[in-house]
Amino acid sequence: MTRSSVDNLPLSGQRILLGVTGGIAAYKSPELVRRLREAGADVRVVVTDGGSRFITPMTLQAVSGYPVRSDLWDATAEAAMGHIELARWADRVLVAPASADIMARMAAGMASDLLTTLILATEAEVILAPAMNRVMWASPVVAENRKRLEARGMKFIGPGSGSQACGEVGEGRMAEPGEIVSALATTTTDRPLAGRRVLITAGPTIEDIDPVRYVGNRSSGRMGFALADAAARAGARVVLVAGPVSLDTPPGVERVDVRSARQMHSQVMQHVGDCDAFIGVAAVADYRPVSPSADKIKKEGRPVWNLELERNPDILADVAGLDPRPLVVGFAAETGQVEENARAKLESKGLDMIVANRVGENAGFEVEDNALVVIEPDARHDLGHGTKRMLAGKLIEHLAHRLNQGKDES
Ligand code: CTP
Repeated sequence: MTRSSVDNLPLSGQRILLGVTGGIAAYKSPELVRRLREAGADVRVVVTDGGSRFITPMTLQAVSGYPVRSDLWDATAEAAMGHIELARWADRVLVAPASADIMARMAAGMASDLLTTLILATEAEVILAPAMNRVMWASPVVAENRKRLEARGMKFIGPGSGSQACGEVGEGRMAEPGEIVSALATTTTDRPLAGRRVLITAGPTIEDIDPVRYVGNRSSGRMGFALADAAARAGARVVLVAGPVSLDTPPGVERVDVRSARQMHSQVMQHVGDCDAFIGVAAVADYRPVSPSADKIKKEGRPVWNLELERNPDILADVAGLDPRPLVVGFAAETGQVEENARAKLESKGLDMIVANRVGENAGFEVEDNALVVIEPDARHDLGHGTKRMLAGKLIEHLAHRLNQGKDES
């Protein structure tokens, strides 16, 4: 089974870390947790000191189904899931209600308690649902903090207008739990890979013969980097395992540099565990020298040099053999009988999808352009000819459609 075939709810599979801060609107938090879970999200809750004055951690534990964290220095909780682990675990961090105080501390980059520390340590999307008295919300310093947080890519839901707990009427009420869940679901549609994890290999691998020579290939890594960029822009958490290339890391992408096929294999196996999709774009060397030399090999006395090579592990086939496994996408760079050869690889390696790519004068290795056809066991999609960036966007759109099929049909 593929891990991606289970969803049909708007927030299916999303890991949401809910931060509850000090405000009367915290009484709505249990309802928010319930609604998030009904929408398919997996929710863990962190309560600040202020938050726990309004709602007990016990209530939130009961509705979320997990212990609630509140103390950065709680050794037992840290042993179960450390705060850095929790920051990595989250696909999205939702601060609701978000008080004026947490906004100020976040804007200042403080790590003065568990929630602010997690927010600094996470690469996930951070969303705030503010709640405060209307005069506080209208104050220039809160407006300034909001702008600073927005400039860092954080999103805001609400606040709404209406009568407030303090007896006043105005803007500052926390958005209703239902509104918050709908807003999260809508941004999921705009970013079709939000909450998804994608692992990509890119570039060549290099197999050392001796300290100065190696067996390599002409892959530039551009197609794989373009895909990592497109997947991150579509909202995915992307890990890019890259062979030696001279390309900048796309924004928001976690990059792991490797040199040889065996290093790439080991990094892929370390990261594949909770991925929704694996895309093998790297031109992995099929062979490596049997006995690489620690010293430079001299040409004296060697009119002919027979270099003995042995097979490298097949990363793509090994990922396809996992159970459960992510959606597995391969690339086939071919010079002739492109689609036939690609289809044969799709079948022999047991893939969900293979992207056939003609290597020639105007497409393929070391050039900006490419021409791609996606082949699936019972479908074929021609993505056409164009820049690698444009084709990467189309391929990621297609991939998102495949992963979200359950949702699209519901
Ligand atoms: N691949 C891999 N690990 C390998 C070799 C290839 O993950 N050791 C992946 C590539 O990233 C790509 C696909 O497999 O997605 C390419 O398939 P492959 O059969 O290895 O391509 P070629 O080496 O071109 O095969 P052949 O020599 O059979 O044409």
